[in-house]
Amino acid sequence: MSATSPPGRDEPLVGRAGELDDLDALLAGATSGEGVTVLLEGEPGVGRTRLVEALQRTADLLGLEVRTGRAVGPSAPPYALLGDALLGPAHGRGAGAGDAHGPVVAELADLLGLLPPDRADAAARYARADELFAALVRRNGEHGPWVLVLEDLHLADACSLRLLAELAGEGTLPHALTVMTTRAVPHRPELGALVAAWTRAGARYLELRPLGSAATVELAQSLLGARVGPRLRGVLATTGGNPRLVVEVVRTAQACGVLEQREGVIEAVGTGWLDDLDQVGRAHVEHLGPDVLALLGRASVLGSSFVVGDLAALAGEPVTDCWRTLRHGLAAGVVHARGDRLVFRHDLVRAALYAGLEQEERRALHARAAWALREAGAPSHVVSAHLERAR
Ligand SMILES: Nc1ncnc2c1ncn2[C@@H]1O[C@H](COP(=O)(O)OP(=O)(O)OP(=O)(O)O)[C@@H](O)[C@H]1O
Ligand SMILES: [Mg+2]
Repeated sequence: MSATSPPGRDEPLVGRAGELDDLDALLAGATSGEGVTVLLEGEPGVGRTRLVEALQRTADLLGLEVRTGRAVGPSAPPYALLGDALLGPAHGRGAGAGDAHGPVVAELADLLGLLPPDRADAAARYARADELFAALVRRNGEHGPWVLVLEDLHLADACSLRLLAELAGEGTLPHALTVMTTRAVPHRPELGALVAAWTRAGARYLELRPLGSAATVELAQSLLGARVGPRLRGVLATTGGNPRLVVEVVRTAQACGVLEQREGVIEAVGTGWLDDLDQVGRAHVEHLGPDVLALLGRASVLGSSFVVGDLAALAGEPVTDCWRTLRHGLAAGVVHARGDRLVFRHDLVRAALYAGLEQEERRALHARAAWALREAGAPSHVVSAHLERAR
């Protein structure tokens, strides 16, 4: 096969023209007037970071100051997210604004080094840090419009989340386009409070959805530099349009050497990459807790979509308990609801969960599924297909 370019940040942004137009329009609004706040949410790997990077490029072209902070985990030091965004050098606009804030930045830098982990031990210092960070974000717009990107709020330290929620009470940041990105899980009460506060303050909510099937193929083709054949398209369809999974499928195919190119069309041949594909599917959901994964693993036996009552019977648990566990899978975008039916969003993930079951367990689950489905009145060929796999 021909050499293919490694996927990376230089690859074009695929299938996001509408979202980028929306953000560009909000950017124009923020530069001319009040300030706009956007909450950008979506399933893991759906492309939030790529989208805000594209927005940052537009802001750079317009000569706007761009400040970006990325949360690294809830146990990071106090104000780690805000510090990352506001205390380092900015992108874009010249150093003038930074100089004006120099004394505040210097005081904050000193103060952060002196904060004990427990707020109760140094209430006055924490209050001062709140005051200084609030002044920084509120006054930065005095030097011209700017963009504040706060990435991965689901991982942010509690002090940053609390202060950001409080800032919402005073309305949007003047002359700023503020974009806060988050995954829907894990659910954290402080994050819930922040989202509620900014929702009340009129923040726009943008849910980034998976790519459609045409854009999914386009992304793979742009990575591979050639048209993709029907078998590879079939595997790409199991990604449910999640760009990270699309990139991973392409990388896995390349790494396993299963791609062949003929007459300008790239096709996947053989089965030599199926175990590696399962690893991709498992990695995509490993952030979910063991209970959620165990229940989704059982659900994988029932197929790409299943009735929750049937899963409850299969798992030997009350339906309400099943829903309680499954709502994490729903929030994470692994399954979505259609009435009392749930559908796996990415068949790649379902297949990986299924492949991850021990053989004995899988047989026992098929036997139970046959019983549960027969009880529920499923057609006999469905029941016998499970009995077949129970052997
Ligand atoms: N629209 C797109 N066009 C091309 N590639 C994309 C697109 N969206 C995402 N990607 C690629 O998919 C992968 C995941 O994207 P990204 O990191 O932006 O997702 P994310 O939503 O920020 O993920 P996380 O939940 O881990 O924060 C990256 O390799 C990225 O380059
Ligand atoms: Mg990201």
